[in-house]
Amino acid sequence: MGMDLVIKNGKIVTAVDTYEADIGIEKGKIVGIGRGFEGNETIDAKGMFVFPGGVDVHTHLDMPFMGASSSDDFETGTIAAVFGGTTSIVDFAIQTRGNTLSDAIATWKKKAEGKAVIDYGFHIGVTDVNDSIIKEMETMVGEGVTSFKLFLAYKGTLMVDDGAFFQVLEKARNIGALVMVHAENGYLIDVFTKRLLAEGKIAPWYHAEAHLPILETEAAARAIALAEAASAPLYIVHTSCGGALESVKRAREKGLPVYAETCPQYLLLDVERYKEPNFGGAKYVMSPPLRAKWNQDILWNSLGIGDLQVISTDHCPFFMKGQKDMGKDNWAKIPNGCPGIETRMPLIYSEGVRTGKISINKFVELCCTNPAKLLGMYPRKGTIAPGSDADVVIFDPEKEVTLSWKNLHQRVDYTPYEGMTIKGYPVKVIVNGELKVDNGSFVGKKGTGKFIRRGKFRV
Ligand code: URP
Ligand code: ZN
Ligand code: ZN
Repeated sequence: MGMDLVIKNGKIVTAVDTYEADIGIEKGKIVGIGRGFEGNETIDAKGMFVFPGGVDVHTHLDMPFMGASSSDDFETGTIAAVFGGTTSIVDFAIQTRGNTLSDAIATWKKKAEGKAVIDYGFHIGVTDVNDSIIKEMETMVGEGVTSFKLFLAYKGTLMVDDGAFFQVLEKARNIGALVMVHAENGYLIDVFTKRLLAEGKIAPWYHAEAHLPILETEAAARAIALAEAASAPLYIVHTSCGGALESVKRAREKGLPVYAETCPQYLLLDVERYKEPNFGGAKYVMSPPLRAKWNQDILWNSLGIGDLQVISTDHCPFFMKGQKDMGKDNWAKIPNGCPGIETRMPLIYSEGVRTGKISINKFVELCCTNPAKLLGMYPRKGTIAPGSDADVVIFDPEKEVTLSWKNLHQRVDYTPYEGMTIKGYPVKVIVNGELKVDNGSFVGKKGTGKFIRRGKFRV
């Protein structure tokens, strides 16, 4: 009897090695790496890279936000993810005021079950902190929800104050959980927003003027100081600017357990996009906003030297027509967020690896291995090794694709990368030992993705 599936002749890439070998898969797990395996099914990966499935630890599927709901649900969003080589996600279950953390998880499990085509975990976006919520964090960790995001922005909705943030940090330290933070100063954003609107400044460009880099820099420094005071580890999400990174770098030099991610949009797009005519700038209204181009060099450099450890997407799509256009006469009403779950891996390969900015092993580390480690899924996810889940991407380094929202699978009417030609694309994607994407077609079934009970974070 052969193995269920053997992937032959590919070039396996992990965070540390690149080598030619075959992969044997049984019952959804990798059971052998070597030569001479016999399979009931065989995939010939000659000329291809074989990557671990991508791990995207920052997504917002089916999330009510700013008067709209993010347009991908767990079916369309995870199908888009798998087309782009991402085989696990960690999505944000948002606590609503007055409700518990387990309410948030129950709500998000209902959204995902029967729909997701890849495995998924949840962080909790904690918005309402009191003694019983702090106690409940421990129950959540026991259920495999081991990370909590706090927002220092979005005053009046998601934002928490420093006292609440500190209490969550202290509790997280005691129970081995990881606190994630949206680092922008929500109080000042509120002041600038009111001021700009009172001056009649209503176009998307002013989103960037209200969310100045100094407000991210200040909030990142403050979050790090509070984490240090609580002796807790900290993970800063969607880092966009050099100023915030300086604090991360300084903290890490001091030996503090501070980690940070960035996203493709901050590496590849800049603030000038807000000037696109006919309300086109709304496509890029996200928080933090796109920054001046010079920040991109700092971000790439920080990825290369390890000051930034993860590339995630912050996938939070809204249709231009019917959602973003709610802010046609007032940029502050444009739902914040942009799509990216499908394009992360090919964009970073094309614009990072091919251009020589990062090595191919660093690419795997940033997009697969580190996110799995920091969010408690390693080595089940994020690498190719005996015993790991058989989440595997067969990637053609020569395949050229011109990105267009019409050809992508994200449920949204634009991509920020419209018309961009990239080189290198997944051609077959295997999730838990089953082929899900085969040369441009989805061949899986909805509802096959399972909840990931995550462990405690590790480095
Ligand atoms: O603009 C963004 N980033 N929208 C999603 C919510 C968040 O802050 O992550
Ligand atoms: Zn955020
Ligand atoms: Zn986000």
